[in-house]
Amino acid sequence: MSEPLRLQDVERVFVQGAERLHVLRGVNLALRAGEVAALVGPSGAGKSTLLHIAGLLERASGGEVLIDDAPASRMSETERTLARRAKLGFVYQFHHLLPEFSALENVAMPLIIAGLPKSEAKQRASALLGRLGLAERLKHRPARLSGGEQQRVAIARAVVHGPKVLLADEPTGNLDHATADVVFGELLGLVREHQLAALIATHNPDLAARMDRVVHLKDGVLV
Ligand SMILES: Nc1ncnc2c1ncn2[C@@H]1O[C@H](COP(=O)(O)OP(=O)(O)OP(=O)(O)O)[C@@H](O)[C@H]1O
Ligand SMILES: [Mg+2]
Repeated sequence: MSEPLRLQDVERVFVQGAERLHVLRGVNLALRAGEVAALVGPSGAGKSTLLHIAGLLERASGGEVLIDDAPASRMSETERTLARRAKLGFVYQFHHLLPEFSALENVAMPLIIAGLPKSEAKQRASALLGRLGLAERLKHRPARLSGGEQQRVAIARAVVHGPKVLLADEPTGNLDHATADVVFGELLGLVREHQLAALIATHNPDLAARMDRVVHLKDGVLV
C-alpha cells in the first residue's frame, strides 16, 4: 500500500540567541493515498511548523520526511522545489493568490510552470474552477472575489497539477461557519476523488470529525 506522506521522528528546534524552543520532538505519521487526517492541537503546538516541514518549505532539525518514498533530507534545494511542484499541494488560511492575476491564471500557473502549453493549462484550470462553481468568475482578480470564492480558487490551484499529497493549514479558518462547511466539503470531495494523502490543520472539531482520522499534536509529538 503506498504511503505518499511519511514522517519519521521529525524534530524541529528553533534557536533564538540562548533560547532553544523544541517544538517538534519526534513526530511519526504515515498517510495512505486517499487518507485524510485532521491535525489538531492548541495554538502554538507546532501544527503550522509541521505542515511547513512536511511541505518541504522548511527543513526538519532531525528525522525524515518521505514524499512518495523520496527522503527529503537527501534532496538539494532544487530537488525540494521540484518535489514541491510535482508532488505537493498547499492551502493556507489566507488564499495567497497572486493579486495581479485572474482566478483562471492563478490556477493555470502551476501547470504552465510544469511545462504544459498555455491553452491546455487554461482549459484544465477552467474545468476545475467550473466544478467549484466559479465558471462565471474566471476573469476576476482575487480582490474581486468573496472570501469563499478566493479559498475555492486557492484549493483549485493546490490540486490542479495532480499532486500526491495535500497539506492545508486551517483552509477554511477565515470563512464564516456556513461557507466553511461548504468549501470544506468541496475540498474533501477533491481529495477523495484524486486519492490524495491529506493532512489538514484545523481548530474546528466539526471539520475534524469529517476526516478519516484525527491526530493530536501535543508536547511535540502526535498522539
Ligand atoms: N521561525 C520561528 N522562529 C522561532 N520560533 C518559531 C518560529 N516559527 C514558529 N515558532 C514557534 O513555534 C511554536 C509553534 O508555532 P506554530 O505556528 O507551528 O503553532 P500552531 O500549532 O500552528 O499554532 P496556531 O494554532 O496558533 O496556528 C510557537 O511557540 C512559535 O512561537
Ligand atoms: Mg498555525
